[in-house]
Order: sequence, then structure tokens, then C-alpha cells
Amino acid sequence: MDKLIIKGNKKLKGEVEISGSKNAALPILTSSILAEGKNIFKRIPELRDIATMGKLLVNLGADFSFDKGTVIIDSSSICNFEAPYDLVKTMRASVLVLGPLLAKYGRAKVSLPGGCAIGQRPINLHLIGLEKMGASIKLESGYVIAKTGRLTGASIYFDIPSVTGTENIMMAATLAKGTTVIENSAREPEIVDLANCLISMGANIRGAGEGIIEIEGVDSLHPAIDYEIIPDRIEAGTFMTIAAITGSNLLLKNCRSEHLDAVISKLKDIGISLDLTEKGLRIMCKETPSSVDIKTMPYPGFPTDMQAQFMALMSIARGTSIIRETIFENRFMHVAELRRMGADIAIEGGTATIRGVDKLRGAPVMATDLRASASLVVAALAAKGQSTIHRIYHLDRGYERIDEKLRKLGADIQRISS
Ligand code: EPU
Repeated sequence: MDKLIIKGNKKLKGEVEISGSKNAALPILTSSILAEGKNIFKRIPELRDIATMGKLLVNLGADFSFDKGTVIIDSSSICNFEAPYDLVKTMRASVLVLGPLLAKYGRAKVSLPGGCAIGQRPINLHLIGLEKMGASIKLESGYVIAKTGRLTGASIYFDIPSVTGTENIMMAATLAKGTTVIENSAREPEIVDLANCLISMGANIRGAGEGIIEIEGVDSLHPAIDYEIIPDRIEAGTFMTIAAITGSNLLLKNCRSEHLDAVISKLKDIGISLDLTEKGLRIMCKETPSSVDIKTMPYPGFPTDMQAQFMALMSIARGTSIIRETIFENRFMHVAELRRMGADIAIEGGTATIRGVDKLRGAPVMATDLRASASLVVAALAAKGQSTIHRIYHLDRGYERIDEKLRKLGADIQRISS
């Protein structure tokens, strides 16, 4: 297992190119199941999760190739309809094949994802929605087994605006007979990107990003040609916290600042300057940031995927910050590790109280999930002395060559492969 060794307490400088979005790319790659022929997607990040999705699609019978950010998927030869446990257990987003397989082939067998480090994460909303559209669903030996004739449009209300739930139903509805309305749908930029991709394939979708999505089914879709994925807002936000915690001046290129309003607003509250220029988003940090309170919320609220990185930042802020996690019930796995680096954090239920300390100190720490790993990198870059971050395969699931990018900015960071 690879590990990272970081010698922190250094200012960084320069520009960094933000990669394509992992969470936009994953559903977009599965949308290729809906259209026979050669689908071409651009700016796909080279990540472990993308490789896993490739394996899953190949396992279904599709042709999949990845070359310098371009993914070509020919789904004409799909002949297997199962997402096996071994793949789903390494990546929950595998469940995104369920909607497209049912809509296109009328059958799917997908391993139930089960709980994960950050919470229970059920998929009941995906299943209720598909049942409303006419699918018959049973759970057997840890698998969802779903069958249907042509799906029919339905009115679906989500109790919680689930991101992948919205994506699964939206994809299923593109080929259904009649109109589907998803109320209280997720509004994340990744939902809009998937809708735009599906529209480019001939789907009829209105309202993506607005909370009520209306999809009028069509008989068939054509392959996506050169569809370019949006930049990764969470990677951009992570680099913002890195700039803030190290007191650095960075230029983020290929960054859509409008996808990061909540994060940018909090950064401004703590005294960070951000300036949108023709070249990109410039972030300038001179003084120690002040404390701020945060509550994670579905988009456009503050993203849960930025909570851990912000907590690392708040651990050296002036004053006390309160962070409330409302999306996942167990997303404070990074706290024990940040404490090993000297952070003063108390947890009670879903609330963390962070009392800023003058300095973090390097330590050996363990990555437990993707964003928790990112928070340890953020903290280690500011910490005095050396940190070793173990189990960085979590980090490689969602950050494209983060060690290389940081080295280019002047960080003392080394990957040790084993
Ligand atoms: N929920 C249910 N029932 C469902 C679906 C969700 O109760 O059927 C609950 C979940 O347990 C959770 C809340 O609803 O408490 C929100 O979950 P959601 O379904 O929106 O999360 P997700 O679709 O599984 C995506 C991202 C996550 C991100 C969340 C929230 C992808 C592939 N994953 O997960 O990304 O944290 O939305 O924004 O898009 C990450 O990239 O590190 C990551 C975990």
C-alpha cells in the first residue's frame, strides 16, 4: 500500500490545473449503457474509481478504453447485467448501472452496496423510484434483482435529495414511456452535467439543477460524442483550503467558481481573498484565518465532501469553530488522526467543536476514506515536521496525481510505493 511523506510548514506558489469531476464522470460513464455505439467522453480524470467503473462496464460486456483523459465506451455488446459484489464493495457508485441497465435491457442484478466508513448509505430511494416506474424488485442474497418491460414515466418524490438516486432515476426515465417528474431532486452541478450529457444524446430533460426534474422518455438515445466533463469542484475546494492553511498564493485553472459559492463565501468570512481573473481563480492568503461555523447541506449548501478539509483548516484558525455534519452520520473519521497532529477537536453527535491551535505537528496518520485522506494532506502541508499518511489508496480514488500537483507548487511530498 502506498504512503505519502510530507514535510510541511512551507508556503506554496504557482498554478494548478483542476481535473475533470469524479462524481460527474462516474454517472456519465454509465449513461453510455443507454446508447449503443461509440460514446466518447473527454477530460475524464485518471483515478482508481474511474478504473473500477471501466472494469464494471467491461464486465457487462462493453468495450472501454482510456487514453489521456478520453474515454471511449462502445456498449453495443453488453450481454451481462450483473454488478458483482467485488466491484460494488470497492466503489458504491457502481449502483449507477442499475437505472441504465433496467431502462435499456429490462433487467439488472446489482450487489447491495452495504454501509461504508462514512455511514449506512441505503439505496431505498433509488429502488422506490424504479418500482414506481414499473420495475419489479426483490432483494436476494445481498443483491438487488430488478426486472421490467419498458419502464413507464412516474411522479417521484425524494424524501432526501439523493445525488446518485436522482442520477439513477433520471437515466432510467430517459427511455421510459411517458413523463417522469422527480420532486426534491438533488441540485448538484454533477446532476446538471449528467442531464446535459443525456440531452446531447437526444434525451428530453428539463429542470436539472432546480429541484424538480421533468424527463420525457424517448425511444432511443444516440451515443455521446466528445462530451466534456465539468471541473471537479471538490478538488478545487481542497486546493483552496491548502492555499488557506499554508498562507499561500495559488492560481486555480479550469475551476468553475460558481459551483463553489458556499465554500468561497466561508473562505471570505475567514479572511481569505479570492479573485476571478481571465487566467483562473486566484486565491491569496496572508494572515492566519479566523474561525467560522459550518453546517453541511445538500447543494447549494456547504458540501459534506469539503467538511473534513475545512476542519483541518479550522484547526489552526484564530478562535473556536463549530462544524455540523448533517448528510452522513459517521463522517468524522479524520478527527482522531487530526488530533494526532495536535488539533484540538471535540465531537458530540454530528457536531465538532474545533479550538484553533498555533501549530500542527507532523505525525504518522491513517487515511480512512477519500475526503478524510484529503484533510490529512491539508493538515500535513501546514504541520511542522514530517507526516506519514498511510493507506492513500483512498486518496487515489478521487484526486488525480495530487502528489505531483503539490510538488509542482513547491510542496515537499514523496510517495513511497510498496
Ligand atoms: N440516502 C437515503 N436513501 C437513499 C439514498 C440516500 O437515505 O436511497 C441518504 C444517505 O444515507 C445520506 C443522504 O441521503 O445520508 C445523501 O446521500 P446521497 O444519496 O446524496 O449520496 P450518494 O449519492 O451516495 C454522492 C457522492 C458523495 C457525496 C454525496 C453527498 C457520488 C458518486 N458520490 O453520494 O461523494 O458525499 O453524494 O453530496 O456522486 C465523495 O466523493 O467522497 C463522496 C462520498
